[in-house]
Amino acid sequence: MKKMLSIVAAAFLGAAVTFSYAQTNVKVTIIDTATGQPDIPDEIYGQFSEHLGRCIYEGIWVGEDSSIPNQNGYRKDVLKALKDLKIPVLRWPGGCFADEYHWMDGIGPKEDRPLMVNNNWGGTVEDNSFGTHEFLNLCELLGTQPYISGNVGSGTVEELAKWVEYMTAEEGTMAQLRAANGRKEPWKIKYLGVGNESWGCGGDMTAQYYSDVYKRYALYARNYDGNRLYKIACGASEDDYEWTRTLMKNAADKINGLSLHYYTVPGWNCDKGSATQFTAEEYYNTLTRAAAVEEILTNHIAIMDTYDPDRRVALILDEWGTWFEVEPGFNPGHLYQQNTMRDAMVAAVSLNIFHKHTGRLRMCNIAQVVNVLQSMILTKDSQMVLTPTYHIFKMYGVHRGATSVPLAYRPGSISSTNGKAMDNISVSASRDKSGVLHISIANPSLDKELNVEFELDSEGKFSSAKGEILQAASIDAYNDFGQKPAVVPAAFKGAKVNGKKLNVTLPAASVVVLEVK
Ligand code: AHR
Repeated sequence: MKKMLSIVAAAFLGAAVTFSYAQTNVKVTIIDTATGQPDIPDEIYGQFSEHLGRCIYEGIWVGEDSSIPNQNGYRKDVLKALKDLKIPVLRWPGGCFADEYHWMDGIGPKEDRPLMVNNNWGGTVEDNSFGTHEFLNLCELLGTQPYISGNVGSGTVEELAKWVEYMTAEEGTMAQLRAANGRKEPWKIKYLGVGNESWGCGGDMTAQYYSDVYKRYALYARNYDGNRLYKIACGASEDDYEWTRTLMKNAADKINGLSLHYYTVPGWNCDKGSATQFTAEEYYNTLTRAAAVEEILTNHIAIMDTYDPDRRVALILDEWGTWFEVEPGFNPGHLYQQNTMRDAMVAAVSLNIFHKHTGRLRMCNIAQVVNVLQSMILTKDSQMVLTPTYHIFKMYGVHRGATSVPLAYRPGSISSTNGKAMDNISVSASRDKSGVLHISIANPSLDKELNVEFELDSEGKFSSAKGEILQAASIDAYNDFGQKPAVVPAAFKGAKVNGKKLNVTLPAASVVVLEVK
């Protein structure tokens, strides 16, 4: 989109000098007359849980004998917070862990399950007490769809085939084994990942080689007794367009979804920086890097369109989010990071982008749900906090299942020292099944208010607007254990309707979600 009206401002913020070229007024036309717009699938709000650090153990699973209040071994506080979030899909057991995971080690009596070394994540020894039953029972408790990530890197075709049979078949040896382990009824499993990062930790393969391997594994992952698998092939990292091209060329007719991984690492040379102590320069580098996912999505989608113009194969962004340095004092392999208002801005900007690409992008799984990378929830012994990112997911939940409403606007630009730039407004809109319009807006500027004038292109008129705002006293504010939460949503009073127009004023570094009638 062409940029219009650029006001140049040099802002001295904290220790860093950041040049921002931000306008304070943006006009947005709501293309209410558009037809045939895609829906926003629930799965855009998907989550990822890996056997990594304290995500599963401590974060979700404490075991029945724990002094931490639990329901059948799942900690109650986390269970409730995840139920409130209504998570649509949960990916498990990895990540890199998945390609070293042997599912048979995680079934049967707990005392008989072997120990294993988690080679990818800190060399931690785990006891396999959280396995297939514990995961799928969790999904049932949460009302969420499981997304099983199969072992291709160090497993066998037979092992994956039998796992699918164990989980989904009504009869046969695997079904008998499942029943002997306490579960007579098969589970329904839709999403099956065939390998993770097969170009790296999942087997170090070339795209050509992997596409053949994929077909072999996918062939023997059968549909039992009415269960229909939706098979997801390992996709590219970031801008590896050749990987996407090769997979689409060689295997598109056997693939339901092709994955993609994109992490927001703010600095040059993958320099991550602290999650809580950062300059204004690092803030803008983080946000512009997050916003750059739009170009990555657009380019992968364009390649997929050439091989699959009907858009049968979905793009599945099954790992995304911020990746900062591990908090001091924690195991460097456990990827535990705090979560500030900066993370909330990244989530808001990212979700607004995802909403615009749902014609092809059908699932996104933020990494990861508890205690790892950009988490929804952090725990410390028996304490738990909801992160600013959790609040964004909850506020944005109004878009789930709704129909995208296109917006036309000519934004200003914010640049950063990593050579990237982003719009000075991040916005998306949808209409839910009852016809209510929801608009989510993020103002990325650290020092300027944003005035937005929305106007309907249809004959309709607005009658009311109400909403919620997420903002903090400072961009590095976070919710800490034992403290009054510093980042929580509040009622928003800055929206006014006037006929076809809606005027909204957002404070600097804030996110607003509106319900407009
Ligand atoms: O989410 C952490 C790791 O990042 C995953 O295990 C891997 O797939 C990716 O590299």
